[in-house]
Amino acid sequence: MKAVRLLEYGGQLVFSDVPTPTIARDEILARIKSTAVNHLDLVEASGTARQIFPLDLPWIPGHEFSGVVEQIGSDVAAWEPGDAVFGNSGMGAYAEYLAVKPAAIARKPSNLSFEEAASVPVASQTAWQGIFTHGHLEKGQTILIHGGAGAVGAYAVQLASHTGATVIATASGDDEAYLNSIGASRVIDYRKEQFEKVLREKVDVVFDLIGGDTQKRSFLVLKEGGHLVAATQPVSQEEAARHHASGEMMRLVPSADVLGGIARLLEEGTIRPDVATAYALQDAAQAWKDIAGNLPGVHGMSPSGPGAPRRRSHGKIVLRVA
Ligand SMILES: NC(=O)c1ccc[n+]([C@@H]2O[C@H](COP(=O)([O-])OP(=O)(O)OC[C@H]3O[C@@H](n4cnc5c(N)ncnc54)[C@H](OP(=O)(O)O)[C@@H]3O)[C@@H](O)[C@H]2O)c1
Repeated sequence: MKAVRLLEYGGQLVFSDVPTPTIARDEILARIKSTAVNHLDLVEASGTARQIFPLDLPWIPGHEFSGVVEQIGSDVAAWEPGDAVFGNSGMGAYAEYLAVKPAAIARKPSNLSFEEAASVPVASQTAWQGIFTHGHLEKGQTILIHGGAGAVGAYAVQLASHTGATVIATASGDDEAYLNSIGASRVIDYRKEQFEKVLREKVDVVFDLIGGDTQKRSFLVLKEGGHLVAATQPVSQEEAARHHASGEMMRLVPSADVLGGIARLLEEGTIRPDVATAYALQDAAQAWKDIAGNLPGVHGMSPSGPGAPRRRSHGKIVLRVA
């Protein structure tokens, strides 16, 4: 099969022929239609976090996919060849075929294209687990979402709004209309205003998709007993205790149940995916260049720097495989 591989940390992506995976009794072989690019792919490839994310090189990136079941292991009862699915993989989705466990997949929503479906699993489940599992968000509460127009943020805005929470998001001013259209009642332009200076009321939950100073300042707007959930870096427990709030860094734990729930919301049109660009699989290196601007210094690519022109609109970058 064709696949995109990384041969060494910090190296170039190589598009070439590799052996098609074989499946265990409890796995399915999926013929991949599309996969999507995540920040984590670039971080892993750079080797800067190899203590946390060690790679078995050569390595095929790719944490999510959409496709069709090609073959099932003898212990798999829930799926049949020909089923359209989407889901998570620990790695390996930048390829024509992938061996996956049923615990990480769900039926592809029928109203979504394969490209749209591939953009969903990581961002939507991170948002779900961030705001509900870790943030304990409930109807009637207020949530502040940093990076609301990003891939994860946009699902967090939609899911929180659907739950009946009041949603405030920080984002670039250009994204205000988009964020209002998906459920944010207020958008604070992070390039022009400091959220802690303009927010009059405190919030129950902060979902931090940015980190650094943004995370630190978030405690100033969090109610006592509130929850700060971070997706990018650990939260200072001293700061959390000082503000009588909880603070934790989450890590996505893919779940077929959560993804199935998200699939239903997509299918009924309650939430929607957002694909910014689609590239052919062999152009994965270009897709990585597009996303690297948000990750200063990663993979040897130069940072965009503050005030740099925006490289793309909101939404995920997808790779078309077939
Ligand atoms: N812990 C986990 O399990 C997990 C899972 C998935 C993702 N993540 C992490 O979550 C983060 C977000 O991922 P993503 O895929 O949503 O990223 P993304 O699509 O690149 O979105 C980032 C968004 O943040 C905005 N932004 C940049 N600086 C900001 C600031 N200071 N204040 C407010 N908004 C700002 C960007 O807007 P402009 O482009 O207009 O500047 C962009 O819309 C990444 O760091 C990713 O690695 C963690």
